[in-house]
Amino acid sequence: MRHTWLADAVVYEIYPQSFADSNADGIGDLRGVIERLDYLAWLGVNTIWFNPCFDSPFLDAGYDVADYLRIAPRYGTNDDLVELVVAARERGIRILLDLVAGHTSVEHDWFREEAERTSPDPLGDRYVWALDPPLRDTSGDLAGTASWVPSPGARPGYYLRNFYDQQPALNFGWTHLPADEPWRDPVDAPGPQRNRQTLRDVMAFWLDKGVAGFRVDMAFSLVKDDPGHVQTMVLWREMRAWLDAHYPDAVIVPEGAEPRLGEPLAFNADFFLVIGAEHASLFNDHSAGILPWNERLTPFFHAQGGGGFIAFEEAWDAAHADEPGRLVLMATADHDFNRLRCGSRTMEQLGSTLAFLLTWGTVPSIYFGDEIGMRYLPDLPDVEGAICNPTYNRAGCRTPMQWDDRPNAGFSSAAPELLYLPIDPDPDRPTVAAQRSDPDSTLHLVRDLLALRASTPALRAGPSTRVINADYPLAYLRGESHLVVINPTQDSMALTVPEALGARLLLGRGAGLHDDVVALEPFAFEILELPR
Ligand code: NOJ
Ligand code: CA
Repeated sequence: MRHTWLADAVVYEIYPQSFADSNADGIGDLRGVIERLDYLAWLGVNTIWFNPCFDSPFLDAGYDVADYLRIAPRYGTNDDLVELVVAARERGIRILLDLVAGHTSVEHDWFREEAERTSPDPLGDRYVWALDPPLRDTSGDLAGTASWVPSPGARPGYYLRNFYDQQPALNFGWTHLPADEPWRDPVDAPGPQRNRQTLRDVMAFWLDKGVAGFRVDMAFSLVKDDPGHVQTMVLWREMRAWLDAHYPDAVIVPEGAEPRLGEPLAFNADFFLVIGAEHASLFNDHSAGILPWNERLTPFFHAQGGGGFIAFEEAWDAAHADEPGRLVLMATADHDFNRLRCGSRTMEQLGSTLAFLLTWGTVPSIYFGDEIGMRYLPDLPDVEGAICNPTYNRAGCRTPMQWDDRPNAGFSSAAPELLYLPIDPDPDRPTVAAQRSDPDSTLHLVRDLLALRASTPALRAGPSTRVINADYPLAYLRGESHLVVINPTQDSMALTVPEALGARLLLGRGAGLHDDVVALEPFAFEILELPR
């Protein structure tokens, strides 16, 4: 197994719609990204994760794929993607694509053809069809609950959806096969096996074009009625074995944490989702309001303090229990929920949070714009994200990148009304250009932290992370050689750390070391190299 590069990855998530528009149609595109690669290299990221950029009707921002092998025309061509991969590699940047494994769009040819069939496909159905499935009232369902939708074509009965109605589940078979539900295929039936082969074909197609791997959307949703995801993980282990044989350097990163089944792990990392309790207990922001089930949590990174670190630490330890060097991705935020800076959170708070994310033993994933502290924009109408669940409006975290003080913040030269989503109208909105010329900016802080991380092996994902104060201020040792002390709150504080005597300051803001006492102003942090 090669793919060791992931341990040194610094991921940057690009929502392609909103990053950079090169042809003035109001929507981001691949050429826009190519033009901004120098910026990403300057910042110090070395891996881009793109949300789906394949042909799609975009009812779920591209997570409804109509053709896995074709870049969506609005983003460019397959050749543009190849050009991007090459140009990125020249700058030491790898590309991860988003593999939407569990469902397609209703506009995929596979679905259109199957929906017009009056009997099952002799080669095996790619989707799940039933004449008389166990229907229930789904009106109150959250998106993502597999349920039955009436067939839109000649095919009688219903199809199973995976997320929204317009996202029919691909048929990877079922674990349980009750006699009264004969439409359930076993996992080794022709349809499910055909879809497995297609997953390999899709991965090979893009890996042959030079991409470095995939973030796998809804990775654990594939086999249905699969307690503990046992059969789904058999599938992914099979995929990993195939990758090891043919593309040993390629990585697959799941959406979420891989289930532990006592078998070798299939994915190259876990992802601590923004929505997950472990992540929310650190960074959840009450003000954005799209995470109602997390609102009771007071996050640890909160100006008034009052949050706990233990829930996160336990999840972290659990992730490493059977594989000590296990990699865990943690994001500043993502395209589904929030931004690192939301509502009342102030810019000055961000430094301590970013210092944590970039020095804790995680593979960090920076959501585009979080490096300048872009905010969640409340009250926007939905765009491409909430078709069947109006409460799941994700527009606020998807507004265009703020580059400079040109019209549309330099994102696009289209007329403002043509933009995919509006630019943050705040005249004081942060921009890359303004922060680039301010050495005290959040942007420079991120860059400095990434440079320190790159030049300090102990601060990367692999070496040990040992907490020595799981309270305010947070203190932990990396690789037993470096000490990080962080004050996420608005109150000054100090901590005595005997190991710190004689330590050397590498990077910090608002903190000082006096003998063995680390003194921290509000939102301060300090990264120290311990004496040998
Ligand atoms: C998770 C993705 O992050 C989200 O954006 C999408 O809507 C669902 N999966 C369905 O594919
Ligand atoms: Ca464009």
